[in-house]
Formats: sequence, C-alpha cells, structure tokens
Amino acid sequence: MGHTMFRPRRLREKSLLRTMVRETALAVDDLVYPLFAVHGRGVREPIASMPGQSRLSVDELVKEVKDVAGHGIPAVLLFGLPEEKDPRGSEAYAEDGIVQQAVRAVKDTVPDLLVVTDVCLCQYTSHGHCGVVEEGGVKNDPTLELLARVAVSHAEAGADMVAPSDMMDGRVGAIREALDDASYQETPIMAYSAKYASSFYGPFRDAADSTPQFGDRRQYQMDPANVVEAMREIALDLDEGADIVMVKPALPYLDVISRAKAEFGVPLAAYSVSGEYAMIRAAGRLGWLDEERAMMEALTGIRRAGADIVITYFAREVARILERDRGLR
Ligand code: PBG
Repeated sequence: MGHTMFRPRRLREKSLLRTMVRETALAVDDLVYPLFAVHGRGVREPIASMPGQSRLSVDELVKEVKDVAGHGIPAVLLFGLPEEKDPRGSEAYAEDGIVQQAVRAVKDTVPDLLVVTDVCLCQYTSHGHCGVVEEGGVKNDPTLELLARVAVSHAEAGADMVAPSDMMDGRVGAIREALDDASYQETPIMAYSAKYASSFYGPFRDAADSTPQFGDRRQYQMDPANVVEAMREIALDLDEGADIVMVKPALPYLDVISRAKAEFGVPLAAYSVSGEYAMIRAAGRLGWLDEERAMMEALTGIRRAGADIVITYFAREVARILERDRGLR
C-alpha cells in the first residue's frame, strides 16, 4: 500500500465523519403522503395488501392529517373512492365529490398542509379506465375535457396543486388552460409524466377499487422497456406547462429518474408506489429483511437517483425515524 493512496475506509471509520460526508439526505420536507378518502363517518377500512394503510372517511382523514402535519410532512396526495361509478366518472368532478369534500376539510383543519390531488377518472368510471371508453378503447381527446373539469373542481375546493395521473396526450395543456380560465393561474401542476404500465400498482387498485373491467392500461401508460420515450413525455409535459414532473413507479425506474434529472434539471418527483411498499412490508413481516433499514435504503436510493420529492406510503414511518435519530423524541 503506497502512502499517497486514497483509502476510502478513512472516512467510514467514525459515524460522525460518515454522516458529514454523506451525499444524500432523506429529509421529511421532501415527502408526500398519499391518503384514500371514502364516504361515511367513522370509517377506517384497513387495506389488506397495504398493511398500515386504510381507507378513511373525511372525519377520520382529518385526524390523520393533523398527525401527518405534526410530523412535519409538508404534503398529502388525496385519492377518493366514490359511492357511485358511471361511464364518464362524473363523481370525479362533482362539487360535493369525495375528494372535493376531503380537500375542504383538510384545508379547514390544517391550512398550512399542502393538499395535492390526484386527477384521474379510473376510480370513478364503471369500466375502471382512466378515460372515456368508446368502441372498446379509451378515447384521448374526449377525455381531456373531463380531466380539466376534475382539476378545476379540485382547485375550487382548495387544492394547492393538482397531479394528473391519466396519461392521456395533451392533458397537462388542457388542464393548464382550464385552470387559467377559471383564474387558478397560481395553482401548480405536478404531472405524472413518465408513468409506466406497471404491475406494482396492484395493491393500489385493491385500495382504490380501480382495476380495469376489461383489458389493461397499456394503451395509455408507458411500456416498462422505454426510457427515451420517457424523456419525450417529460419534455412534452413541460412544454404544456407542468411545474413538477414525475416518474412512477420509482424503484424499478431509478435510471429514468436519474436521466430525467440530468436532462431537464426541473423539480422532479418520484412515486414509490403501492407495490414497492407492499414488498418491503411483506418481507419485513416475514422476517426476511430488516424492514426499517430496507425502507430507508430504498427511499434514499430514490433521492440519490435524482428525485427532489418522494411520494411514499412510508412517509410517517420515515418522519418518526428521522425524529428519533435526531434525538428529538
Ligand atoms: C390512477 C393512479 C394509480 C396510481 C396512482 N394514480 C393507479 C393506476 O394507474 O392504475 C398508483 C399508485 C400506487 O400504486 O401506489 N390512475
């Protein structure tokens, strides 16, 4: 061993030094916590495939968001399960729809918490697709008008940001225009830009009752094999006025996150989806891996790849761990 040699272990020996040279910090300020709202009162329905997550009626959801905000988590992402579904998903843009009610209640209780809403139709349509179905297929352009109505109705209810997750072409532009026309020029759009047709949404579809009744989503969500196309999707959404772009899922697509950050340098979110959560939870429960460490490692990896914002069902656990490790509790 020559004496001028770089010895990487010098900086690994002491834990304080390790922390000092750490390149990526997972911080509570970067997290978004997703929640599922249902009709009723006092409802807390555990989601079997997502242990630790429940469908909540608005009164219960309000309790939950107080706790979320108390942990310093800056934002929630709201999904809704309607009472009635129809072919056009009209509950998605109803003034008293479930998400609209939830947004109002959350903003009333914890005004400082950022409320982001998922803009899509699949939880609301009887066929379970993210758009208008005609002749057995999902029609792009007729869907845009509905998505724009959903986004405006969320903004009217008080949403701080809207997040279209449908993957129709041109939806960011249509939503931007509709928001501007309704004088919500200041409401940002976080676009699910590179959203893949992924098996990792399985638990979510149980949770949100949004499994397509026929076919799958490959006509509109991206092919998992593609990354160049993801860059084109992102460029398109930015062109149409997206303020934040998103890659989804996260773990199997770290290269997409990394490339998107390098190519565009814009605010980037990554959605660590239900299946990623379920995998770590399940293996942890079986004692096959250390759940806490696996969770922190996976989420740190998503940040290291280039995501500024991480949407995760683990947000509250992460917040607790970060507090504990800082010795605040
Ligand atoms: C709605 C939507 C989905 C997810 C977020 N928004 C499901 C889908 O596209 O099938 C998945 C989130 C998750 O799996 O955690 N389009």
